[in-house]
Amino acid sequence: MTQLIEAHGGELVNREVIGADREKALEEAKSLKTLEVNNWEISDIELIGIGGFSPLTGFMGKEDYESVINNTRLANGTVWSIPITLSVSKEKANEFEVGEKVALKGQDGVVYATLTVEETFEANKELEAKNVYGTTDEAHPGVKKLYERGDIYIGGPITLLNRPDHGEFTDFYMDPKETRQMFKDLGWKTIVGFQTRNPVHRAHEHIQKTALEAVDGLLLNPLVGETKSDDIPADVRMESYQVILKNYYVEDRVRLVIYPAAMRYAGPKEAILHAIVRKNYGCTHFIVGRDHAGVGDYYGTYDAQTLIEQFEDELGMTIFKFEHAFYCTVCENMASAKTCPHDKENHVHLSGTKVREMLRNGERPPKEFSRPEVADVLIKGMQQA
Ligand code: ADX
Repeated sequence: MTQLIEAHGGELVNREVIGADREKALEEAKSLKTLEVNNWEISDIELIGIGGFSPLTGFMGKEDYESVINNTRLANGTVWSIPITLSVSKEKANEFEVGEKVALKGQDGVVYATLTVEETFEANKELEAKNVYGTTDEAHPGVKKLYERGDIYIGGPITLLNRPDHGEFTDFYMDPKETRQMFKDLGWKTIVGFQTRNPVHRAHEHIQKTALEAVDGLLLNPLVGETKSDDIPADVRMESYQVILKNYYVEDRVRLVIYPAAMRYAGPKEAILHAIVRKNYGCTHFIVGRDHAGVGDYYGTYDAQTLIEQFEDELGMTIFKFEHAFYCTVCENMASAKTCPHDKENHVHLSGTKVREMLRNGERPPKEFSRPEVADVLIKGMQQA
């Protein structure tokens, strides 16, 4: 029988109640105090509930929070790189007592979960920004979000009552239990996870396929939660992924499943979180390329690789670290500094800004950069936006 990789921390967490228990809990929730949660928090609730964030069973308390920002570990020593916290204002925090159950409700009126308040504590935003994002600059999109949040964190276990509706992405939604079963059914023993918040361009395709030469299957796992406004919207990206898979990939070696999380842009620290979640989904390998989860020039090109390497043994996954990949017009191939001896002027390089500008103008980027079928989907999507 195929032996699957253990979930992070040992056990795949399941905080969801279903059937009659769920009905009862929803009924009970009607008499609880409510706390309104935003889309970012709802995506965290979902990932905790379905085990994507195993071993977390709820929002972090003070001890875990401090340990994560200071030592990149939970208080019990398990590797964890980004605090998963629920924030409220000081005034709101005063409404809740320790031990009390609270209903976590979205703006849409849906009660997504209940949380048992274990503690409330003050966030140390400056230290969190510095240690998690590597900067306190409010121009950083992750830091900006952090500074906009309430100053108090509420820690405690949650019970998931409703998963968010993934709308047009529902067909590509699977929870970690389901991806693990799928890998078993496919007979895949080694699976490489790929995180992305972008369309799959030639460089992405190159590193995915290089990895595929060494493992049984690829989990293409694009992040579809909150991203910054100039990133390409998830619906357009999803269409582009389907087009590239159909035209350029071997069908039974790849599965496309959404990763319903918010993007933090925390570079090296987020690379570790991304790997942990994919391990929970059942991946044995994970790709970290150039400037993983980076933004602007806050992180060095290979900082994420250097950091994750320190935790690779403990994560129990193999991290495929890829050099910056590009098309070389002399090699007539995708390559990197490891494989191509030619001068830089032979390499096709385009900035994200340049590519977006071309797409908005209805121009296909060169085929050495992006497959024409992908470019066409993106042009259509950018022009409609
Ligand atoms: S991310 O924010 O989700 O990491 P992106 O979608 O750009 O951004 O990248 C997905 C993965 O591909 C990351 O591991 C990233 O490091 C890697 N990657 C992106 N572009 C390249 C490239 N040209 N060469 C090598 N790796 C790359």
